[in-house]
Amino acid sequence: MPVADRVAEVRAQITELAQSSLTASELMQKMVKLLHERMLKYNWVGFYMLEPGAQPPVLVLGAFEGAMTPHTRIPLNQGICGAAASSGQTVVVDDVRKDPRYLACSLETKSEIVVPVFVRARVVGELDIDSHFPAAFTPEHQDLVKYCAVLVGKKLETAGQ
Ligand code: SME
Repeated sequence: MPVADRVAEVRAQITELAQSSLTASELMQKMVKLLHERMLKYNWVGFYMLEPGAQPPVLVLGAFEGAMTPHTRIPLNQGICGAAASSGQTVVVDDVRKDPRYLACSLETKSEIVVPVFVRARVVGELDIDSHFPAAFTPEHQDLVKYCAVLVGKKLETAGQ
């Protein structure tokens, strides 16, 4: 199946999940499972959420699919994850070996994308995906992952955790 068709199909399935999930937790659980199963290059898929009230702020591992990671709590001044959450910008790394911010999760990881999740214009967490393939997150994948993050932000706003 061509990548564009696969992306369109998964996008439609994600839309259905957002409609049928009653809570953001349910949506995040089902979303990571679907992305991990259906997108062959998405080898680790997970959410990190800002711990409410934590000072200094810290990202805590939430729903994920893939190998267990040693990074269950990430301060905002560390990692690609910290960079995305503190800047509110999507970070795409085509070759993790060349990015000094990178915190290793698996030796097999070659590329990574982290997309912030917003609720009422504030970062509340992020969707992090690692790939065993270099430069896996082309613009059409970036669009899909951003779409996922937007749906989770909307669900948090309307349905809560
Ligand atoms: N690579 C991330 C850490 C999280 S693991 O990939 C699951 C980072 O550099 O922040």
